[in-house]
Amino acid sequence: MTYNWSTPTDVRDSLGEVGYLADDRIAQVVFLASKLDKPILAEGPAGVGKTALALAMAKATGRRLVRLQCYEGLDEAKALYEWDYHKQLLRLQSDEGAEWDDLEGDIFSEAFLLERPLLTAIRSSEPVVLLIDEADRIEVETEALLLEVLDSFQVTIPELGTIEAVTQPLVVLTSNNTRELSEALKRRCLYLHVPYPTIEREREILLLKVPELPEQFADKIARTVASIRELPMRKTPSVSETIDWARTLLLLGIDELGDETTAATLNVLLKHQTDIDKTAKELGLNVSSGAAGE
Ligand SMILES: Nc1ncnc2c1ncn2[C@@H]1O[C@H](COP(=O)(O)OP(=O)(O)OP(=O)(O)O)[C@@H](O)[C@H]1O
Ligand SMILES: [Mg+2]
Repeated sequence: MTYNWSTPTDVRDSLGEVGYLADDRIAQVVFLASKLDKPILAEGPAGVGKTALALAMAKATGRRLVRLQCYEGLDEAKALYEWDYHKQLLRLQSDEGAEWDDLEGDIFSEAFLLERPLLTAIRSSEPVVLLIDEADRIEVETEALLLEVLDSFQVTIPELGTIEAVTQPLVVLTSNNTRELSEALKRRCLYLHVPYPTIEREREILLLKVPELPEQFADKIARTVASIRELPMRKTPSVSETIDWARTLLLLGIDELGDETTAATLNVLLKHQTDIDKTAKELGLNVSSGAAGE
């Protein structure tokens, strides 16, 4: 493969080159995961860069990204594999005179298999980055499926036998912690808490994502957001919202964060009127409901 990480600093540099600014802990965990062949469990609030980390790892290593998006009700057929019933049926209909024994071997073969992300990752001849996104959304029972795969990187398909991975994927699971993942799953992973970035790092992220932004202004925005995050809210602003806010301010030709401009654009940063009101009060801004743009 094209990457060669020999220290956490290498990891930080190569992620930085593809637009992901990792702090020391993130760089260290990614480094260890790559050396120990262990999955990463990235957990933290919404919009702090958990998914983006996996995308950046794929880019930095030149590997294909295989993504399993988790949701309530996700099952084996959507995560691992299923048989293409429609195609099987057509085959059976076209071959009505044939012996069942022959047919059975035929319709439960490679050509009738629908590969889902976990099987894709296992069977890939080139090593991949496997992203199991929002793992806390699946039911506890479905976790067992992940355990089996993560444990041995093999899958047994009754009709085809056991398929073992030929290459070692880099695996990232993400969670918003809407429910606790099982101890069994956690034990197999390197745990990575992804917090809101420090002011310094958010400023760097802003400068990277919104290059037109003057440095001082980026600093001011990062500081303001950090102070807003101190307040108890229904929805604390995420990094994506900070980026949106910075872009908005630039688009409106605003290059200084005064009380009035802040009040008029808070609705980009915050998604609940109660949060907007609370923030305005706390920052001593004069904002009447829906004041944006007025
Ligand atoms: N360290 C970082 N370096 C560069 N960009 C970042 C970083 N952290 C966050 N971002 C930016 O924030 C955006 C949101 O990140 P992402 O979608 O990965 O969040 P998430 O943690 O997966 O959120 P959710 O839990 O809602 O899925 C990314 O598109 C990226 O632009
Ligand atoms: Mg995400």
